[in-house]
Amino acid sequence: MKVTVDASLCQGHNRCYALAPDLFQLDDAGFASAVGDGTVPPGQEDAAELAADNCPEMAVTIHA
Ligand code: F3S
Repeated sequence: MKVTVDASLCQGHNRCYALAPDLFQLDDAGFASAVGDGTVPPGQEDAAELAADNCPEMAVTIHA
């Protein structure tokens, strides 16, 4: 499983980072990107899904 953030959609709500701080990082302006290549480590799948479900801009995508 991988996660990606669509930078054209992200508005910096930061819910992804709040819910899954191991999977997302914020730049100085508060916009998110996936950590590393976006690979979700074992045990972090639920956090990834939560982040995707809670992004108001639907900028977070899960790739199975
Ligand atoms: Fe951006 Fe959504 Fe996270 S708007 S900062 S990807 S919660």
